[in-house]
Amino acid sequence: MSPPRSDALVVFGASGDLAGKKIFPALQAMTRRGHLEVPVVGVANSDWTLEQFRARAQESIAEHGHFDAPTFLRLRERLRYVRGDYNVPATMEALRKELGAAQHPLHYLAIPPSLFEAVVRGLGQSGSARGARVVVEKPFGRDLASARELNQVLHGVFDEPSIFRIDHYLGKEPVQNLLLFRFTNTFLEPIWNRHYVESVQITMAESFGVQGRGKFYEEAGAIRDVVQNHLLQVVGFLAMEAPATTYHESIRDEQVKVFRTIRPLCPDDLVRGQFRGYRQEDGVAPNSTVETFAAVRLHIDSWRWDGVPFFIRAGKCLATTTTEVRVTLRRPPLSHLRRGETNYVLFELSPQVKIAIGARVKHPGEQMVTEPTELTVVHHADGDEMDAYERLLGDAMAGDATLFAREDAVEAAWEVVQPILDSATPVHEYEPGCWGPAEAAALTAKVGGWHSPAC
Ligand code: BG6
Repeated sequence: MSPPRSDALVVFGASGDLAGKKIFPALQAMTRRGHLEVPVVGVANSDWTLEQFRARAQESIAEHGHFDAPTFLRLRERLRYVRGDYNVPATMEALRKELGAAQHPLHYLAIPPSLFEAVVRGLGQSGSARGARVVVEKPFGRDLASARELNQVLHGVFDEPSIFRIDHYLGKEPVQNLLLFRFTNTFLEPIWNRHYVESVQITMAESFGVQGRGKFYEEAGAIRDVVQNHLLQVVGFLAMEAPATTYHESIRDEQVKVFRTIRPLCPDDLVRGQFRGYRQEDGVAPNSTVETFAAVRLHIDSWRWDGVPFFIRAGKCLATTTTEVRVTLRRPPLSHLRRGETNYVLFELSPQVKIAIGARVKHPGEQMVTEPTELTVVHHADGDEMDAYERLLGDAMAGDATLFAREDAVEAAWEVVQPILDSATPVHEYEPGCWGPAEAAALTAKVGGWHSPAC
C-alpha cells in the first residue's frame, strides 16, 4: 500500500535564506505542474502579516525562480503564516490550529541546526507530529556524535520512515543519471571496476566565495559543507553495486554499503586550503583556519574498488564554477599504444550537463599514431526540468524517501570524515581564481595529477 500523501506543508524558517532561494521557487514550480494542492503554512519569528508573507514569497520567486502571475495566484491562496518563537508552546499551538483537519502534515525544518531540537519537541508536544513527516536540512549534525544525538531527538518523536534528511545533490537529474548510466549501458558495466578503472576524480569548483554566509561557513568549512554530504553521495552512486529493483530500500542499502567500505580518512589523505581574503569576510575570525578548499584521497575497501583511488576536490573562489566526475580507465598493454592521454568517462554535472567518453583515434596520415578525441553528449535543458528541491519536496510529500539520506548512511558518512574534522593539518592560502593550493598536487601525483575542467 502506498503511503498517504501529505495534506499540508509547514515551512519553519519561512523568512530565511533557504526558503527564499529554494523553497518558494520549488513551491511555485509544483503549483504550476498541479503537484501542490494543500495548504502551505510558513512559520517564522518575523513580525509579518499574512499579506507581508505572501509578498515576500512573491519577491523570492521573482528573484530566484520562474514567476508567472496566474500560477502564483494559486499558490498565494494556499499560503498561511504563523508568527512566533519556536521555543514557546503558544507558537506550536497556533500552528496546530492553523493545520486544522490535516492528518499528515510535512514539516520542513529550514532553520539552523541549533533550533532543531526545540522544534521537534514542540511538534511532538503539540500533537502536530502525529501522522506527520519531517524534512531536515543539512548539515545533519557537525560530527558523528552530534549526528547520533540529532537522530535520537528525531526518533523521540518521528519514526525513521517519516524522517527525510535532505541532500539536494540526490535530487539533481545528472546525479541520478550517474547510477542509471552505469547500469543501463552494457558497454560500461563490465569495465566499472578495479580491472579497468585507474582512478576517479570528482571536482566541485565554485568561482564565488562564501556570499555573506561567513558565519555559517566558519562552523562548517568545505569538508562539512559539501564533502561529507553532496560529494560522498556522488561517490556512492559511482561505486555502489546494482540495487535490486524489487525492493524500495535497495538504493539506500547499497549507498550505505559504499560508505561503510570507505576507509576513514587520515590526515595524509587531506590537503586543506583557504582563499586569500576569506578572513576579511563578515562573520569570519581574523585568524580563522577553516578550509574553503579541501582535496581528499579515498580508498574503498571493496572487492570491486580495491586499489582504485577516488579523489575529491571542492573549493570556493576557484578558477570556474563546475562540478564534474572523471573516471580514468587503465592504459592498453602495448607500449606504442600507451602513449598520450588514456580513455576516460566524464560526467559534467553542472552548470552544463554533459557526458563524454575520451577515446583515441588514428591521426590521419602515414604514421600509425593516435590522437585523443571525445565522444560527447550535451544535454540541452528544455526549461521544464525539475529543480532538485522541487523533486525532493514532491517525493517527501508522497512519502518516498529513496533520494533522502537514511540514518545509517548519514552516520557512516560522518565516520569517513570524522578523523579529519577540525584537523590540525595546515591550511594553505591560495589566490582566488586558481585551482586551490599547489600542495594538493601531491595527492594525485601517482595518477598524473588533477584534471582541471576547462574554464
Ligand atoms: C550547498 C552548500 O549545500 O550547496 C553551498 O552549502 C554550495 O556552499 C551549494 O555552494 C552548491 O549547490 P549547487 O546546487 O549550486 O551545486
